Formats: sequence, structure tokens, C-alpha cells
Amino acid sequence: MGEEYVIKNAVKSLQKILHYFPIQSAILSEKEWNEKAHVNTWSKKEVVGHLVDSAFTNLQRYIRIQYQNTPHIVYDQDAWVKAQHWQELPVTDIITLWKVVNTQILHIWNNFPQAKINSLLNVSKDKEEMYTFAEMIQDYIDHCKHHIQQILPQMITVIAAVGQNNELGKGNDLIWHLPADLKRFKEVTTGHHIIMGRNTFESIGKPLPNRTTIIITRDKNYTKEGCLTAASIEEAIELAKSDSEIFIIGGAQIYKQVINNHLINRLDITHVHETFDADVFFPEIKSESWKEIAREDFKADDKNRYDYSFVSYLRK
Ligand SMILES: NC(=O)c1ccc[n+]([C@@H]2O[C@H](COP(=O)([O-])OP(=O)(O)OC[C@H]3O[C@@H](n4cnc5c(N)ncnc54)[C@H](OP(=O)(O)O)[C@@H]3O)[C@@H](O)[C@H]2O)c1
Repeated sequence: MGEEYVIKNAVKSLQKILHYFPIQSAILSEKEWNEKAHVNTWSKKEVVGHLVDSAFTNLQRYIRIQYQNTPHIVYDQDAWVKAQHWQELPVTDIITLWKVVNTQILHIWNNFPQAKINSLLNVSKDKEEMYTFAEMIQDYIDHCKHHIQQILPQMITVIAAVGQNNELGKGNDLIWHLPADLKRFKEVTTGHHIIMGRNTFESIGKPLPNRTTIIITRDKNYTKEGCLTAASIEEAIELAKSDSEIFIIGGAQIYKQVINNHLINRLDITHVHETFDADVFFPEIKSESWKEIAREDFKADDKNRYDYSFVSYLRK
């Protein structure tokens, strides 16, 4: 794998983590943040504390590189986390700090000339200890992902685009063309399992690249190349259970069942601010059951004909 490719992917991964971790972690209660499986293990809050420390350590490396110093830093994780008293701070403050430090790191990843970093990284290093900028940032991403998995419960997310009256589609097809929504769908679901009803699969017509497609059908003989099939929604979720995040991508029948049967904990909705003629609808998102936790509003432009909003909800 080329270094440019690794760096480009690491930048994308960090952007995604910075956007979604604060949203996803909002699902945890105070008790869940603080409890420890054992006296000697870290609580989830201490794990976030450790993530802040490692972000600072990583940032310091780039500052040292600027001054032509070796980036090597000695860090005793346990002693440091204990000394910081992370337990006493509100978790939202710790996460905000983590996000700010990582935003600086992202800026550096995007702007440092790679060749310069590679040569400076290896100043005064033995041959076997040499590593490249690409390896260093890949290590950092793996480290973040590892700890974030320790913090977050598995997310099962419904992802849908809905019109002003909860319209979803007509004649087994979508009723609008909104490239911004398709782009976001790709960004969010890439690398994960996507679960869909048989009609939605047939409407898309093929498995989507870089995702594991699971089709739900009552037809035991139904098979499609490159896809898994499941006889129920529960079986589909079971097939995806190793994934940290599973996406339910439709259609109307499947959305209705997963929401009514409490099988999912998050909704990622693109609200399209227009009314449409439709024959399938999304269930009403009731404010007694769902809490809005993130929102981005956009105006129509050359490529996207309608105003739209990306909104995330968590079950109350
Ligand atoms: N706007 C959006 O974000 C969005 C997203 C996705 C889809 N859509 C639209 O939604 C429409 C399709 O939705 P839909 O409601 O017609 O179909 P669907 O939910 O995609 O699929 C329904 C099929 O899933 C299988 N199924 C459903 N519940 C099941 C269960 N409990 N156990 C086993 N199998 C089960 C059955 O397949 P068998 O008949 O094979 O047994 C059923 O016919 C299209 O217009 C599509 O464009 C819109």
C-alpha cells in the first residue's frame, strides 16, 4: 500500500472519528462512564482521559520534529492517567479537549510535507527502529479505534433520507436525486455491514463496494453474489455482530420493524425539506422517544435541488 494512500485514509478516518465519537458517546449514562469492571481497570472516562493524553503526546511529536528532534517520547500510561484525576471532570469537557487537540493533529497531517517528516522522523535512529510518517499515523488511528471500541456500545443505526411528510420512495425507487446525501451515506457506511429488505436490495440492484451487504428475505432460496442473506432482522444483526457499527438502510417495512421492536439505538436522518408523491413512508420520529443530538442544515445548490438537513437522534 502506498504511503499517500495510507495518509489519505488516515485523514478520512480521523475526520470521521472526530465527528462521530462525541455524538455516539452521548448515549452513555454517568454511571456507565464511571463504573469499573475491576479496581485495577480503567473506567470509560479514564479511557477518554488516556485518549486525551495520547493526543497531546502525538501532537508534541510533530512539534519536536519541527525542531529537528527525535519524536520519541516516554509515556507511562497508567501513572499518567491516575495523576490526571479524569474522574472528577465532566466527560463532555474531556471529550471537547480531546477533539480540540485532535483537530490540530488533523491540520498537521493535512499540511506537513510528507518527505520532510519522513527524513526528520528518522534523525538519530537505528535502522531497525525507523518508521515512516504513514506508519506513525496509522498506528495512531489503530490506537484511537481500539480505545473507542472499549468505550462505545455496539451501535445499530438506521440511516434514511425522508421528505417533509416522511416520504421514502415510490415504485420501489427513490424520489429525489440528492448527491450530498449519497456522498454522506457512502462516507458513513463504508467499512461496515449494511442490512436491507429484499425490495431495497432489488432497487439498488447490486452489493455496494467496501461494505458487507445483508439482505433480509423470507425466501429461503434467495441468493445474490457478494451478499449474505438472513431470514429475519434478528438473524441479520447476528451475522453482523463483530462490527462496531451496523447500518439498517431500509426500506419502509424494515425501518418500521426495527424502530417498533427497539432493535436500534440511533437514527441518522437526511431531512429533505420538500413534499413528494410517495407510496412508502418512514415512521414518525416522535420527540418523546428520540432526542436530537446533532444537526447540520444546508441550502439547495447547483447539485442539490432541495434544502436538506443531516440530523442524528438517540433513543431517549
Ligand atoms: N429514502 C430512503 O432513505 C430509502 C432507503 C431505503 C429504501 N427506500 C425505498 O423504500 C422502498 C422499499 O421499501 P419496502 O418497504 O417496499 O421494502 P423493504 O423493506 O426494502 O423490503 C421488504 C422485504 O423484506 C423482507 N422482509 C421484511 N420484513 C421481514 C422479516 N421480518 N423477516 C424476513 N424478511 C422480511 C421481505 O422480503 P421477501 O418478500 O423476499 O420475503 C419483504 O418483502 C423503495 O421505494 C426504496 O426506494 C428509501
